[in-house]
Amino acid sequence: MKFFLDTANLAEIKEVAGWGILDGVTTNPSLVSKENTPFEKLIREICAICPGPVSVECVSTGSDEIIKEARRLAGLAPNIAVKIPIGLEGLKATRVLSREGIQVNTTLIFSPSQALLAAKAGSRFVSPFIGRLDDISQEGMEIVEQILVIFDQYGFDTEVIVASIRHPRHVVDAALLGAHIATIPYSVIAKLISHPLTDRGVEKFLKDWGKVKI
Ligand code: E4P
Repeated sequence: MKFFLDTANLAEIKEVAGWGILDGVTTNPSLVSKENTPFEKLIREICAICPGPVSVECVSTGSDEIIKEARRLAGLAPNIAVKIPIGLEGLKATRVLSREGIQVNTTLIFSPSQALLAAKAGSRFVSPFIGRLDDISQEGMEIVEQILVIFDQYGFDTEVIVASIRHPRHVVDAALLGAHIATIPYSVIAKLISHPLTDRGVEKFLKDWGKVKI
């Protein structure tokens, strides 16, 4: 399973890249708006640190404008994936861009039918937002399961990025379903490693080691 970091914060990306488990980064306009660095400079810096794809979102709404914007964004670094919200205009743009070899991450996916259309249009990634579905009392992980079945059934090589992750259980459930990628906020990725019994165990071993005759 690949781990992407869901952030535009350089310090967080550098930190997790240093742990040796970073496979990619996803940004969105809300995440970028929290940073003080000019947009293109920020994206270039993220791309230089990150070993894998960096998703950057198009904000245009018509297909011609999305195509132009996506080409410009893709030119910023070789590891850019352009994020395009699902919709008819986005779908038309995805078909053109994917034929040009530009990686598209279709975002704001809330149903399996949206994911199926994105895959047919040539998307490299689809991003179902599970936390936002959980927020409105729908079981977000159900659509991940259905998308994976559909992609497997027809041999699509589009990868599923489980997005809008709120807690470690979401990551574990995504892994149990065999999702290709989880994009995880820093606060959640940091929680994946800790367990109070591990801390207590290390403390006890160190204490007992002090009694060992060397
Ligand atoms: C994914 O690509 C999105 O950036 C992100 O996961 C959205 O998460 P949120 O619902 O916490 O804003």
